[in-house]
Amino acid sequence: MRSKQSPRPGGRVGRSAGRRGEGARPPALARVRAAGHPTEGPAVRPARGPAGGTALPAQTTRLIGREREIARVRDLLLQPEVRLVTLIGPPGIGKTRLALAVAEAAMDAFADGVAFVPLAPLRNPGLVVSAIAGPVGVRELGGQPLLETLVAALSRRHLLLVLDNFEHLLAATDVVADLLAACPGLKVLATSRAALHVYGEHEYSVPPLALPGLHPLPAVKALVDRPAEFRP
Ligand SMILES: Nc1ncnc2c1ncn2[C@@H]1O[C@H](COP(=O)(O)OP(=O)(O)OP(=O)(O)O)[C@@H](O)[C@H]1O
Ligand SMILES: [Mg+2]
Repeated sequence: MRSKQSPRPGGRVGRSAGRRGEGARPPALARVRAAGHPTEGPAVRPARGPAGGTALPAQTTRLIGREREIARVRDLLLQPEVRLVTLIGPPGIGKTRLALAVAEAAMDAFADGVAFVPLAPLRNPGLVVSAIAGPVGVRELGGQPLLETLVAALSRRHLLLVLDNFEHLLAATDVVADLLAACPGLKVLATSRAALHVYGEHEYSVPPLALPGLHPLPAVKALVDRPAEFRP
């Protein structure tokens, strides 16, 4: 773990000074507060399913290892002052898989559950707001910018937002900063090949899977996806 504010040994979690100053307030927040928009409304539905189920995508292979990483990131995420944790690492290291496991482990601590936002298919940073709006159940309201509607909807929710594969959308990190500044009950778990550099970000470098004789991830993936090929 590492932190610019409180250094810790181990060098895996860090905190970025970020782009946005502490006192800076996003224009969207100022407008929403001034307008006194309701924070919940007909355009909103909870991220958790009606039966209390998870909003996380189901996995078709079992998770290997990662117990220590899951516990560490969950504990970090659940610290009261921690609002944004970014899992960082090269392609295929297991960032998304770890984020899903952490979200599942942390879900019960969020009264409004978890929303998973897959960003990999997006080609335009300008679409990040609408990509988030969908999984949290927010729809465009006539005449109001979607970011304002989203802020109004999330400002009273106690929600974990998982933003998966942010690396190609770094031009949209202000959206994350705006949401965090405007929504005190919101936390973000992001995965990215590079840091978001949003104020208060905690960076967690995802280590390779530590499995004796198997640790290159392609070997692990092959074992999980085609177990028959590994039987004697
Ligand atoms: N601990 C694990 N147990 C089982 N399978 C895993 C584990 N970690 C990763 N995998 C599998 O390896 C593949 C790559 O993992 P993942 O998609 O999480 O990588 P990533 O770091 O998010 O990659 P990218 O940067 O391309 O998004 C996936 O098929 C995933 O299910
Ligand atoms: Mg990924």
